[in-house]
Amino acid sequence: MELEELKRKINEDFKTLKLNLQTLSELRAQYLGKKGPIQELLLDMKNLPNEEKRTLGEKVNALKALATELFEEKKKELEKEEQLKKLESEKVDVTLPGKEINQGSIHILSKVIEEIEDLFIGMGYEVKDGPEVEEDKFNFQLLNIPKDHPARAMQDTFYVDAVRLLRTQTSAVQAHTMLEDEEKRDVRIICPGKAYRRDDDDATHSHEFTQMEGLVVNKTVSMSELKGTLLSMAKALFGEDREIRLRPSYFPFTEPSIEVDVSCFKCHGKGCALCKGTGWIEILGAGMVNNNVLKMCGYDPNIYQGFAFGVGIERIAMLKYGIEDIRTLYSNDLRQNKQFK
Ligand code: DAH
Repeated sequence: MELEELKRKINEDFKTLKLNLQTLSELRAQYLGKKGPIQELLLDMKNLPNEEKRTLGEKVNALKALATELFEEKKKELEKEEQLKKLESEKVDVTLPGKEINQGSIHILSKVIEEIEDLFIGMGYEVKDGPEVEEDKFNFQLLNIPKDHPARAMQDTFYVDAVRLLRTQTSAVQAHTMLEDEEKRDVRIICPGKAYRRDDDDATHSHEFTQMEGLVVNKTVSMSELKGTLLSMAKALFGEDREIRLRPSYFPFTEPSIEVDVSCFKCHGKGCALCKGTGWIEILGAGMVNNNVLKMCGYDPNIYQGFAFGVGIERIAMLKYGIEDIRTLYSNDLRQNKQFK
């Protein structure tokens, strides 16, 4: 075999055989192994005269070197190809748009509650909880609304049985709190929660709604502290430059009772559609705890006094965020919540 011939044969094999690293090393063994054509030449050498042995030896070495070189080159080529293939298959396109993660957001009612809670916790209030299925006693009687009291007509009630009902107001928590606080006789709580009334649902009424009750009882609390507290709340909710106005009102559980208006945050008192031209918007009811309530809950009204307030959370949320229909707050439409992330 001549050098040129060997080169041609090997290159032809490279061309016609579909080689990978494994089959290449098999092919290499065929050429360079013990039974290969090069090795065979060496076997013939034994019988040759010394002179020719030398020339043949040189030739065999040259053939070996050539074949080794060709196979090494081919091996490098295949390795490179395989690496490229691997890179190609493992390619990551970092410019592709990412998968959007659906991030939840807090419901507007919860947001308003949290905002008010933050304010009152800062003023030393405790956040209380109370049952939604409530006894008539706590929802009405201990709040100075006995059976057959005309004020019951204002709060059409879902009765569960003769004794229990769905609470119509978070005021029901007042008596629970006062009765529980036998030792300290010092109450300072807010209670956010659901209340229920047999109202027909419309743009401003919902049979299920949210209130936040506030109650302070001790030996010194006064109407002026109530006013200051409510002013702080109005400013926190509707802006630092808000003012409040107190109007006399009636609730069976407070005496005197007031209704509280906030100066209109839209027209700043000039008069607009939101405040119906008056410059003021009603936001809550409040008052000094009625002596009868104090007495029924074990407090001597000659020593103790209290104030209370109740605010409708939906109303605050609707005013604050310009929501026109209370039902949208219960529609579970995520597009609404997403706006308030
Ligand atoms: N519970 C009353 C309502 O649902 C609101 C209210 C008014 C609560 C005056 C109070 C208060 O604590 O003092 O209409």
